[in-house]
Amino acid sequence: MTETVLRPHAEQAHAAELAALAEHDDRQRPPSWRLSPWAVLNYLLGTTLPDGTVITPKYIGPRRLIEVAIATLATDRALLLLGVPGTAKTWVSEHLAAAISGDSTLLVQGTAGTAEEAIRYGWNYARLIAEGPSEQALVPSPVLRAMREGRLARVEELTRIPADVQDSLITILSEKTLPIPELESEAQARPGFNVIATANNRDKGVNELSSALRRRFNTVVLPLPDTAEAEVEIVTRRVSDLGASLALPADSAGLAEIRRVVTVFRELRAGRTEDGRIAVKSPSGTLSTAEAISVLTGGVALAAHFGDGVLRPHDVAAGILGAVVKDPSADRVVWMEYLETVVRERDGWSDFYRACRELSG
Ligand SMILES: Nc1ncnc2c1ncn2[C@@H]1O[C@H](COP(=O)(O)OP(=O)(O)OP(=O)(O)O)[C@@H](O)[C@H]1O
Ligand SMILES: [Mg+2]
Repeated sequence: MTETVLRPHAEQAHAAELAALAEHDDRQRPPSWRLSPWAVLNYLLGTTLPDGTVITPKYIGPRRLIEVAIATLATDRALLLLGVPGTAKTWVSEHLAAAISGDSTLLVQGTAGTAEEAIRYGWNYARLIAEGPSEQALVPSPVLRAMREGRLARVEELTRIPADVQDSLITILSEKTLPIPELESEAQARPGFNVIATANNRDKGVNELSSALRRRFNTVVLPLPDTAEAEVEIVTRRVSDLGASLALPADSAGLAEIRRVVTVFRELRAGRTEDGRIAVKSPSGTLSTAEAISVLTGGVALAAHFGDGVLRPHDVAAGILGAVVKDPSADRVVWMEYLETVVRERDGWSDFYRACRELSG
């Protein structure tokens, strides 16, 4: 039951939209795809179907990028979503897998400790010892399951995986085959199998992709939102979705506060005010859209539980401070300077200035 879990998978949360899209979808579908590329695009970017069904936008950003991502998955090349933190790489990957395969759960979380078994297969040791190597003793990885089922496998944070483990993807991606020498057999991928990997720009260099592996991927770089309006739209949408799933009162996230948080983040990120007049310093951490979303969700919870339910400047001030000041000395200086030179002087921002001053001591 989707209502009883804290966070349903995309294919559960949007089951009705996916069914409606499938019903109206008379375009050609690549083998094993649940939807045509066209319908997948509409699922990600949102649309209204001829019968009036509204498909909510999941990704807000350049259409062409999503088109390239979807088209790639219909070829024999895998897809690498690259970008700075908080640019919706994981989010887009989950929704693509949900729309194309109806299943976003075939997931390998990449870490420095990810071992080959997580990409190939492992063994149920009790059975292995009792019966010797057999199909029943084999524990398939999410990638192997995706190969057998003709679905998409997701590999998160690919560049954090040690290079030799990454390389076990090469045969899988080029031959579409995974040898299983212990059983003197191999798994051959069914049509529909492909891989979506994500990687963070900032991790680059930790374990760079080998060129052999890179050649198997088409890279799509997800950008930070272009304009403040686009970012406000993303944040508004996500805060109200998250608020609903956490049973927070609807609509308490006032647009004014959302705009304010987005403005602060964009200015600190860009190193100047929106009007271009004042140069400001950037703090050490990333102030992505994702952080803006969590500052506001936190603020909504404060307002709901300890205020009158309406989001006010002092509900977001602490969250902003926490997001901006990651390094207690350098970032604090950056923040105080921003407060005094920008926030203090701005029309209509005096409540916010006071709330921040109180916290900053
Ligand atoms: N352009 C966008 N459209 C829709 N949602 C967005 C956009 N940018 C960011 N978000 C939201 O930001 C949140 C974080 O995104 P996500 O976790 O996918 O980021 P990420 O790129 O994987 O970051 P990381 O590199 O830290 O893993 C999600 O809730 C997502 O909805
Ligand atoms: Mg991610």
